[in-house]
Amino acid sequence: MKFLVFIGSERDSTPPRPARLGKRVAAACVDRLRTQGAEPILVDPLKIHLPSPFKPHFSYARGKAPEQLEALANQIASADGYVMVSPEYNHSMSPTLAHLLNHFGSSLFSYKPSAIVTYSAGQWGGARAAVNMRTFLAELGCLPVSAMIHVPKAQEVLDEDGTYLDAVDAAQWDGYLDRTLHQLVWWADAAQHQRLSGEAKQPDAFTKAPSQRNAPS
Ligand SMILES: Cc1cc2nc3c(=O)[nH]c(=O)nc-3n(C[C@H](O)[C@H](O)[C@H](O)COP(=O)(O)O)c2cc1C
Repeated sequence: MKFLVFIGSERDSTPPRPARLGKRVAAACVDRLRTQGAEPILVDPLKIHLPSPFKPHFSYARGKAPEQLEALANQIASADGYVMVSPEYNHSMSPTLAHLLNHFGSSLFSYKPSAIVTYSAGQWGGARAAVNMRTFLAELGCLPVSAMIHVPKAQEVLDEDGTYLDAVDAAQWDGYLDRTLHQLVWWADAAQHQRLSGEAKQPDAFTKAPSQRNAPS
């Protein structure tokens, strides 16, 4: 099964130091997913050129979006689940991650699970950012599994390659990451089975306007 692992940081400047802690956390998730036999694919916002001014993928005629946007849309559509790795900026989820995800409609993510992974350089591990990620991801249709990963002081846990530093208990951290990632793989497996079986038709997403979801007046 394929999982897209989104890096929620494009910050390449200091201070605060060190920069792009998100790469370390994402690399650790990639490693743990591989041990479960999954195929993780990193999505790095620094490598994706987004249209400016903002124009989401679904606003282009079919197949006419810029190449990188189209490629990522195809990756999202063909993935079985998502790992959303976000720093906490001002007690909120990463604006980079929100901006990137806002380019794609819920029909690409729907009926597949996601995992919330947050981190910080300080002691809270991004827990406050995680709270609103749950609503955000639920609205996108990729329901977050119940367990979450929060990595406080990520610079004291992982080195630049996403390998555990000597001072930490690697087995304990593996167990902590695996709890959430096992849930993700379990739900992804169940959702894939349901999609492939063709037994249940997926309810349609709204196709024209969000008002299609409104209660009758
Ligand atoms: C704009 C900004 C806002 C931040 N806000 C918070 C915050 O609310 N809570 C927190 O624990 N850390 C906060 N930090 C510190 C980050 O946890 C730390 O810089 C971390 O390395 C950010 O991840 P990144 O390196 O992948 O960008 C903030 C950092 C920046 C740059």
